[in-house]
Amino acid sequence: MIAPPDVAFLDVAPPDIGPPDIAPLDPADPVFARDPYPYYARLRDQGPAVRVPLANGTYAWLVTGYEPTRAVLADPRFSNAPPQGAGQPKGDSPAQRARACLGRHMLNADAPDHTRLRRLTTAAFAPRRVDALRQRIEELTAGLLREMVLRLRREGSVDLVDAFAFPLPVLVIGEVLGVPEADRADLREWTYRVGSPADALEPGAVDEAWSGLYGYFTELIARKRRAPGPDLFSALTQDATDGGLDDGELLAMAFLLLFAGYETTMNLLASASLLLLTHPEELAAARRDPGRWPAVVEETLRHASPLEGTTWRHTTQDVDLGEGVVIPPGASVLAVLAAANRDPRHFTEPDSFRPARYLAGHEGSRTAPHAAFGHGAHFCLGSRLARLEARIALPQLFAAFPRLHLTADPAQLPYRPGLLVRGPLSVPVTTAPLPAGTTVTA
Ligand code: HEM
Repeated sequence: MIAPPDVAFLDVAPPDIGPPDIAPLDPADPVFARDPYPYYARLRDQGPAVRVPLANGTYAWLVTGYEPTRAVLADPRFSNAPPQGAGQPKGDSPAQRARACLGRHMLNADAPDHTRLRRLTTAAFAPRRVDALRQRIEELTAGLLREMVLRLRREGSVDLVDAFAFPLPVLVIGEVLGVPEADRADLREWTYRVGSPADALEPGAVDEAWSGLYGYFTELIARKRRAPGPDLFSALTQDATDGGLDDGELLAMAFLLLFAGYETTMNLLASASLLLLTHPEELAAARRDPGRWPAVVEETLRHASPLEGTTWRHTTQDVDLGEGVVIPPGASVLAVLAAANRDPRHFTEPDSFRPARYLAGHEGSRTAPHAAFGHGAHFCLGSRLARLEARIALPQLFAAFPRLHLTADPAQLPYRPGLLVRGPLSVPVTTAPLPAGTTVTA
């Protein structure tokens, strides 16, 4: 996922503002990662934004209500452009230069830069272009499911994240970027490495991946300019006339598509699979009536928002959010989409997984739209693609494996740490009958 600006040195002032009774937030705490909702509910009760102490000794303003979240995301006084020096890699190695260059994308920009970049990319994401990917997504899903059959035969159980939720979005982004199939393994490996903490891999592995991505995208852009294909990314390179994206912007765009598109969609697929496996009545209903799948996808986006918080904003001036809350200039602010989507003032029984709330003709018309794709100027550019992918892949998965079930207690599954992306790290499943005496609780 897109690296957030480093909040650590942005806000280290003592807690002279904000309620004193807020426990420090440790994004690395596995218990918080699995279930952050009670903590967010307490913040939501305190007002539109709360200045929260983080476990690393810094502070951040967290916005957790539905209305305040939308208000913040639509307000240009909350800037996306990293403050001078923030989040910049230190040093000047080729890998660090690659990283700095790839980070100059539209999600890290404000108007008017953002407006220009966004305008130049919108046509490439036009509905007909995205919808044209349907058949390829079906084929790619079918290929992964065939591999899953073989692995299940060989190994007895598989991890749905590893076998399905992770590879599919990477393959689909490969289609969007027009990357030859033979190169996708490299892309997948580099993506995995730059998204991992540096100390989790052997020395140099992350740097090598940054340089690999930079070199690969540079070559890809030159190739697309010479011989454009039918892919979305070719459309972007062909606009490179006056006012079009220059090479640096195209590089950053390729990187943004890869990162904005893969881990988010991976978590949508993983969370939806897990929710369906732990709510067999909902799975059975979707199997009986395929018209329910879009509602399953919407409710997963609301209930298990794949992007827990948006990218970090910082205030450019005092912002009065009402109820006596004034955020000072230069503060780090996180709009917590996962919390906004559980706001009881907008969603009845917000903690329950109830796809019917998004079913046309049922409660659908009365339910507030979720905020999982953000709001305002940076509203997700790939929302149509993400929905398409999930609406194709989930029914295909559950049709291919009618007896799929979990092999682990869902309440014990590890979740991705951090405040930006949320989803289970593994969803172990089998199609074999469980040994007598085994219980898997919902
Ligand atoms: C379930 C899947 C996805 C979710 C939940 C999601 C969510 C989001 C959210 C919340 C934002 C706004 C972030 C902010 O305001 O800080 C965003 C921005 C963005 N997303 Fe997605 N996204 C998903 C999939 C995708 C896909 C598949 C693509 C493209 C292939 C994509 C491309 C983008 C881009 C380019 C932006 C930046 C837009 C801008 O800055 O104007 N996303 N996404």
